[in-house]
Amino acid sequence: MDILNRPDLRMARKRSKKKVETVEYKTDTHIRNLGVGKKYLIQTHGCQANEADTEVIKGMLESQGFTETNIIEDSDLILINTCAIRENAENKVFGELGRLKSFKKINPDLIIAVAGCMPQEEATIERILSKYKHVDIVFGTHNIDRFLNYLYVVMKEHKKMIEVISEEGNIVEHLPHARDHRYKGWVNIMFGCDEFCTYCIVPYTRGKERSRRKEFIIEEVKQMIAKGYKEITLLGQNVNSYGLDFEENDYSFANLLDDLSDLDIERIRFTTSHPKDFSDDLIDVIARKPNVMPYIHLPVQSGSNKVLKKMNRKYTKEQYLDLVDRIYKKIPNVSLTTDIIVGFPTETEEDFQETLDLVRKAKFEGAYTFVYSRRKGTPAASYESNITEAEAKDRLHRLNELVNEGYAYGNKRFENKIVKVLVEGYSKTNTSVLSGHTENNKLVNLTGDESVIGKIVDVKITKSKTWSLEGHVVSK
Ligand code: SAH
Ligand code: SF4
Ligand code: F3S
Repeated sequence: MDILNRPDLRMARKRSKKKVETVEYKTDTHIRNLGVGKKYLIQTHGCQANEADTEVIKGMLESQGFTETNIIEDSDLILINTCAIRENAENKVFGELGRLKSFKKINPDLIIAVAGCMPQEEATIERILSKYKHVDIVFGTHNIDRFLNYLYVVMKEHKKMIEVISEEGNIVEHLPHARDHRYKGWVNIMFGCDEFCTYCIVPYTRGKERSRRKEFIIEEVKQMIAKGYKEITLLGQNVNSYGLDFEENDYSFANLLDDLSDLDIERIRFTTSHPKDFSDDLIDVIARKPNVMPYIHLPVQSGSNKVLKKMNRKYTKEQYLDLVDRIYKKIPNVSLTTDIIVGFPTETEEDFQETLDLVRKAKFEGAYTFVYSRRKGTPAASYESNITEAEAKDRLHRLNELVNEGYAYGNKRFENKIVKVLVEGYSKTNTSVLSGHTENNKLVNLTGDESVIGKIVDVKITKSKTWSLEGHVVSK
């Protein structure tokens, strides 16, 4: 077992002034054709940041000749890209790892790797070392570019490798990508998070905020356009702080969005926006540019000012609703969605009622709702709570009923309308119908012939359901 570096959450909390360098991705020349004739399987948990990282890991593997499979028994390498955001996300991963033990018994050459946010926590490493000894490779979010080096050592020297770095490194450009979709794709514009919401582990697992240079972002988008991509989603934990870490500090997210929308790309989305620095300039760009989609995911977390303060969200309910108001005025057709946590320590029934009130007023057309999960190492972990699990679940249930009304309303308003849909392929649940998303990010199942796949077409909406729309193609 080679343990090159262990994580340290306390170190991960520090924010150094060290300048972030941009470096080129390179593979050591002795690492060649590691995967010829071999198959890999990757399971991805968590947010879009992880989905984008998985595409890079796949790109690295495919550059070595590995091919993808979704059958465990056929795999030579199984990698789990993990999420640490809530306890149940972590439990799922440990459950999976436990299950893989028997496969390793049958095939001792099977390589098992764990990547992503969980390895950034000391507790994960300790647990893997004591209970999941069948894991061969562990690395975190700051050293993905080193993965092939670890794999090489494991394959050629039959060792196990653990390396997790708690100080974020440089920005690595020109990483390989094997993208999951052919017509829409992720584009990282920044890494890390400096918000330190008191409940959240992400600033520790993803490190300090680092923005990618605009030239590299534009270059990546141009390459995607050349390959036929129609839609990009710009990624960052808080895209609104894009560029704040540049020395010059004169180029904002609104500027980047404006510049990208001048390229020949049909649809631009972005996620996630922190409400506290959603500027009027940004609202203007979304309103003005037809290829910036009228869909904003704007996590609110709570409607109670007391709770928002304890969460360190840096805005009040009134400021949030004022922002929502300005957005609706300038972008009347917009769809808003949000994230909400219930059962945060000290949340009372009155606080929860404030959240329900905000949900009604903000007219969300969707929300991801969660019961608060205590994360070791975060400030909120030491907050006392007198909310029982049953109470928290009851609040979640009541909140979801209201949120579901918003989903249904958000779909119903498109009934009998003609909307633009990027047809992505056949529906996952019914392979005889096509499916895609509208500009407002509504899922549509539609009838039409295969030739519309990969195109943006006009679709007449004939029926709306809570979670999706139905329709047929009216023009190509
Ligand atoms: N950076 C993004 C989202 C990161 S995590 C943002 O700020 O919008 C996605 C969501 O998970 C958060 O918005 C929050 O609602 C939820 N979340 C984060 N930490 C959590 C915790 N400890 N317990 C429950 N939900 C949590
Ligand atoms: Fe977590 Fe807050 Fe950063 Fe989002 S903005 S990743 S919730 S700390
Ligand atoms: Fe999870 Fe890490 Fe994303 S903790 S939500 S995968 S940044």
